Amino acid sequence: MKLTMQLKKNSYDIILKRGCLKNLYQFANLVNRKVFILTDDGVPAAYARTIADQCSDARIYTIPQGEGSKCLKVYGNVLEAMLAFGMSRRDVVVAVGGGVVGDLGGFCAATYMRGIDFINCPTSTLAQIDSSIGGKTAIDLGETKNIVGAFWQPQVVLIDPDVLATLPRRHFVNGLAEALKAGIIADPELFALFEKNTPEEDIEQIIYRSLRVKKHIVEQDEREQGPRAALNFGHTIGHGIEAVKGIRGRRKNGLYHGECVALGMLPMIEDNSLVKRTRAVMRALGLPTRAAYDKQKVLEQMRHDKKGRGDSITVIRVPGLGCWRADKIPMAELPTLLGIEEE
Ligand SMILES: NC(=O)c1ccc[n+]([C@@H]2O[C@H](COP(=O)([O-])OP(=O)(O)OC[C@H]3O[C@@H](n4cnc5c(N)ncnc54)[C@H](O)[C@@H]3O)[C@@H](O)[C@H]2O)c1
Ligand SMILES: [Zn+2]
Repeated sequence: MKLTMQLKKNSYDIILKRGCLKNLYQFANLVNRKVFILTDDGVPAAYARTIADQCSDARIYTIPQGEGSKCLKVYGNVLEAMLAFGMSRRDVVVAVGGGVVGDLGGFCAATYMRGIDFINCPTSTLAQIDSSIGGKTAIDLGETKNIVGAFWQPQVVLIDPDVLATLPRRHFVNGLAEALKAGIIADPELFALFEKNTPEEDIEQIIYRSLRVKKHIVEQDEREQGPRAALNFGHTIGHGIEAVKGIRGRRKNGLYHGECVALGMLPMIEDNSLVKRTRAVMRALGLPTRAAYDKQKVLEQMRHDKKGRGDSITVIRVPGLGCWRADKIPMAELPTLLGIEEE
């Protein structure tokens, strides 16, 4: 299956096919130029090797797995390795990994020599469903996520669902939260796939339909000035929880991004029967529907959220399956949203 992200001169193809990792050469020029392959030590090394085998001059660079690698130090190390490899403006960075490798690799490509080609080969469900398309690249500063970054669109995104076979179950499910999000805001048939409860079997359709939702939204709003806000469904509270509970990989009992988004979606659904159905889907998948977190601290965090504008904050609400609405609400209403009774 192929989707094309239509962004005028920044347009690119998204290839989704089992086994396609070994066919990247059909979609991108990998000869007569240097190919810098970024991966991490949790991703089976064979995947990066498969890409390297298709290139005339490749270098594989492996960073430590986990969110901690999206930092200035590792960013600097990667840039130095690119320079040492002798990369010029006509060369290319290929990310082979989850969202961490994709975000960091994309940011390196965006900034090395003021921007060189970037190819994304996402290997986690989260990256295949969500983070690999849309052109957002970033690193963190300390615990402040994605605070330094750039919009930088890839040349091509190559999605091979076969690589998910090696992904730990919890990561597989974590990424599905973003697909569930896409289904709830824009695609009832995608939601129905989740109610079938055979995600492994339906994974290609789940990825395809999620990407279609995101593509449609990003095409309308490449730089997040309007409709793209819909993708933040579940994220306003989700980011608050993420900041307070800590990101797993950084903190021992932390939660993964998708898990926080799942928790953040439930209070934003207005239709009670849809809340019940969503909760049932989450339970069946093994996503958290309740987690112990300090609501006051989450509230504080949301008040500092970068989407907060003065006295109000924009949240995405879902009145019913397949539709959404952006609501600007006064900061004073946040406690109610979280179910906190304040005096
Ligand atoms: N750019 C965006 O639009 C966007 C959107 C959402 C999330 N993100 C970012 O994505 C990141 C999270 O991405 P993630 O959930 O993919 O985490 P991740 O990149 O840390 O990958 C999860 C773990 O799975 C391992 N892994 C990846 N693919 C594997 C495979 N096929 N087999 C075995 N192990 C594999 C990795 O080594 C890692 O340990 C966060 O930093 C988040 O901010 C970015
Ligand atoms: Zn997300």
